[in-house]
Amino acid sequence: MEIKRILSGITTSGRLHLGNYLGAIRHWLKLQDKAQNFLFLADLHAITTSQKPDELHANILDTVIVYLACGLDPKKSTIFAQSSVYPHAELAWLFSCVARMGWLNRMTQFKEKSGKNKEQAFLGLYSYPVLQAADILLYQPTHVPVGEDQKQHIELARDIAQSFNSSYGNLFTMPEPLILGEATRVMSLRDGTKKMSKSDISDYARINLDDDSDTIKLKIQKAKSDSDAISAENLENRPELNNLVIIYSALADLTKDNVINKFSGKGFSELKKELAELMISKIDPISQEIQRLRNDKAFVIKILQEGKERALETAEPTLKKAKELMGFINF
Ligand code: AQP
Repeated sequence: MEIKRILSGITTSGRLHLGNYLGAIRHWLKLQDKAQNFLFLADLHAITTSQKPDELHANILDTVIVYLACGLDPKKSTIFAQSSVYPHAELAWLFSCVARMGWLNRMTQFKEKSGKNKEQAFLGLYSYPVLQAADILLYQPTHVPVGEDQKQHIELARDIAQSFNSSYGNLFTMPEPLILGEATRVMSLRDGTKKMSKSDISDYARINLDDDSDTIKLKIQKAKSDSDAISAENLENRPELNNLVIIYSALADLTKDNVINKFSGKGFSELKKELAELMISKIDPISQEIQRLRNDKAFVIKILQEGKERALETAEPTLKKAKELMGFINF
């Protein structure tokens, strides 16, 4: 299917990192000239785990700033906060009465994120894939660019769309997941078997998009490694090497094989040195632009205001139609 409209977002639960850039933002940048982009800040998703109000507030503003600093253009992409567009929460409730418990019980992310303490997890952490289905289906996108880990949630959105359409009438477009590039899952720099994540307690596990050059250099130097030479053999048993190779290939726009050939027979230190330089050349301009935009809160609020109005133009008619089909009275 031709990519006509995309919908995607990032949870405002902390500082954005290289995984968010390579797994999401980088693809949005390529798509913003080809398709209609709806890019939201998933601030309602952020509160599925405990958030301090002042930190949530700062993270919302910072997430817009990162989008802009990475080169997303508010004239080409509709950039908005989920909480400012009321149809998200309202359609999520309607979908809660379409989705089945059995579908939600299968979601692996709830099992991972709630850990051993399921009784204490918020209800929203369990049901957030339903809100995510509303986020997506309100905009009738043809595609949803996501990392590997989100594929199951797109399937759920499709199940909800299909069930709604067959119960109440054809309204929702079936979105396709769009998983692009080799760096679909960037791993922690401290443990190559764990995803790079905002909530990792060690800051050395990730590269934040606002890290300065010295910090990036230090984090790459300290990244977990082993003493064997670089080789294509046995890569599946060397997750840290595999991760650095994947990051290098994504940043340099090379294939993984190209990168292995380039460093074959050399040690980790050579790969790390070149990777740090490459990463600084890509991340430092973003980091500097982030610092600049942090001093212009009025501009950031203006972007959010304009984005909200544009998002509502699409989301509101979809919600109204859904309510009408379900039998509610619109007035
Ligand atoms: N490590 C990653 N590698 C590749 N893609 C990633 N994404 C996130 N981490 C990686 C992609 O970024 C988009 C937004 O993700 P998110 O921040 O909304 O949710 P998340 O995946 O739960 O991110 P974190 O950093 O792990 O957050 P916390 O720690 O708060 O749970 C998605 O497209 C995602 O695939």
